[in-house]
Amino acid sequence: MIEENKVVLTGIKPTGIPHFGNYIGAFKPTIELSKTNKTFMFIADLHALNSIHDPKTIRDYTYQATAFMIAMGTDLNNTVLFRQSDIPEIYQLNTLLMNLTPKGLMNRAHSYKAMMDKNTAAGLDIDAGINMGLYTYPILMAADILLYGSDVVPVGADQKQHVEFARDIAGYFNHTYKNLFKLPEPLIRQESGLVPGLDGRKMSKSYDNTITLLAPEAELKKKIMRIITDSKTPEEAKNPDESTIFLLYKHFATDAESAEFAEMFRRGGMGYGTAKQILFDKVNSVLAEPRRIFEHLMANTDEIEKILANGAEKAQEVARKKIEEIKRAMLG
Ligand code: TRP
Repeated sequence: MIEENKVVLTGIKPTGIPHFGNYIGAFKPTIELSKTNKTFMFIADLHALNSIHDPKTIRDYTYQATAFMIAMGTDLNNTVLFRQSDIPEIYQLNTLLMNLTPKGLMNRAHSYKAMMDKNTAAGLDIDAGINMGLYTYPILMAADILLYGSDVVPVGADQKQHVEFARDIAGYFNHTYKNLFKLPEPLIRQESGLVPGLDGRKMSKSYDNTITLLAPEAELKKKIMRIITDSKTPEEAKNPDESTIFLLYKHFATDAESAEFAEMFRRGGMGYGTAKQILFDKVNSVLAEPRRIFEHLMANTDEIEKILANGAEKAQEVARKKIEEIKRAMLG
């Protein structure tokens, strides 16, 4: 599907440095779409507040996420990159949308239900550790999506329901007041669920099996060498599509390189140690330049602040107009 002349938007919650699964799931498609569409990308620091209560940590993660997006190729000429909390209109829209969102919709949120299940399993009170920021998380996310008139929202599969909620909330508004909101579509990259972690399960921070993309070389190497394999001998032929090593390689290499590597698996004669070394060399060379940019920005956070201030100015221009229309529709 080639999107053109749409409004594309995605948010990155700064709760740690984005890993490779996040990158493939949401950020890479957004960077691609930004070439032909108006694109907003923001650091969702208000969303991080429900779990992180240390300001310095949020700020550091915000810098890391911003530096990461730039290092991975975000073009600031066609992408508005900003910090969520810099836009006062977002808090306003959040309050307004609260009044249109049924409580029952929030009760159905997978992320909230998962927390309740965990509490129950641990013998705790069902609402232990759940604050209202977490409970109403999808309303703030709907505000993010609707404020900027998004058509397409690239996200990982775990965020699909949240985008559907935004669509529902837009529908309630349009029905109750007037047609001010477009109905956003989630864009789930097929591969996003298929990025394997180091242990072969889905790559996820909660499994502690991620590849942190811009980690120093030595750390990257250690992680790649830790990939779990089966016990086939070097001589045996192997099915590349069953190997985490190959499945990761595919995301970094050209089609021709991948075909050649697949053939080496099938032919037999290549041990997993060698295959890991080939994967490491590939990943390491592809990431050398992004790593340099990332490290430069992290050593010069004033540059990051400037970039974010610039983005906030552009985002707020859109936000200000929209919130006026919304307030007029709701409050007269
Ligand atoms: N909830 C998303 C996540 O955890 C981040 C996010 C916040 C977002 N607001 C958004 C994503 C709006 C897309 C659109 O990854």
